[in-house]
Amino acid sequence: MSKFELPLRADLQGQSPYGAPVDLVPVRLNVNENPYPPSESVVAAISAAVGTAAREVNRYPDRDAVELRAVLADYLNHESGVKIAPERIWAANGSNEIMSQLFSAFGGPGATALTFDPTYSMYPEYARDSFTKMVSIPRRADFTVDIELAIGEIASHAPNLVILASPNNPTGTLIELVEIEKIVIAAGEVGALVVIDEAYAEFRREKNATAVKLLDTYPNVVVSRTMSKAFGYAGGRLGYCAVSEERIVQALKLVRLPYHLSSISQAAAIAALGFAQESLARVHEITGGRVHVASALADLGVRVAPSDANFLYFGEFVDAHLIWKSLLEQGILVRETGPSGWLRVSIGTPSENDQFIQSMRAIV
Ligand SMILES: Cc1ncc(COP(=O)(O)O)c(C=O)c1O
Repeated sequence: MSKFELPLRADLQGQSPYGAPVDLVPVRLNVNENPYPPSESVVAAISAAVGTAAREVNRYPDRDAVELRAVLADYLNHESGVKIAPERIWAANGSNEIMSQLFSAFGGPGATALTFDPTYSMYPEYARDSFTKMVSIPRRADFTVDIELAIGEIASHAPNLVILASPNNPTGTLIELVEIEKIVIAAGEVGALVVIDEAYAEFRREKNATAVKLLDTYPNVVVSRTMSKAFGYAGGRLGYCAVSEERIVQALKLVRLPYHLSSISQAAAIAALGFAQESLARVHEITGGRVHVASALADLGVRVAPSDANFLYFGEFVDAHLIWKSLLEQGILVRETGPSGWLRVSIGTPSENDQFIQSMRAIV
């Protein structure tokens, strides 16, 4: 290696990139993917759409993704019962990019973002990259958010952004709509936007429990969603948000990279969205699996946090790493994340779930 010293930003020196360990074991239940690959009809529709888009790949894509945003608006209307105009929808390469754009536009030097720990481990990275100060408020021991505490912290920190993952990763905890509403009101009083990260929304038990319902009532709400989970489209990289007012989308356009969403990405996502019904039917199988795995873990005397997502958070072990390692030795990869003593397992196919349960029986 040469002696040249990379002029890397001081705050990035010595840091490791985000990423769950990728081990090609037979049963991968560590990154909350949808275990079902697309059907042959979905594959054919995506292939045809990409083929058509390829004929014009000499041209830049529609930088505002107008057609895709209209299809996403229809889907959201169907899924949540709320009609949001396509102008109030924004799309990007995964909800990761949506979040990063939100931090770029509304965070920044001198700005603060407030969230509730344990939660999605990428939030501090968006804050770091946008030079936003991050304040983390602890959740209760059962991983719910203490709303009175949250309201007090919002008043005292006067953040620019409040980030609420609901259902939360890694715990699966959903925040009730009435409680989100209280946070939105408190945030409005200090001029903060509330971003509800609903990456796992389609797996919720109560259909009404989505912050999409608040978008027409309050001016300061952003709901972030993704096709990575319910649609089984993690590799396609398509996330989106629905917002209270169109000017929030205009602000995101200021910070997005030119032509951030390729014509291939737009065409493929539109094709996949044509199969929403099929994807939502799979969601039922996964939530059925969640009930099955949760009750099997409970039978073993393991604590399981109530989950509205496609994964379960379970503990509390004296040595969670040992459990993680023993599962890995049996070809099953789960995730060590969040507070020590707890592990997270994604819901897989029925056979993957049974392999996980059998291994847990042998270990515990
Ligand atoms: C809470 C939460 N938000 C966002 C994401 C990112 O999803 P995407 O694949 O849309 O970038 C994840 C992924 O695991 C997540 O857990």
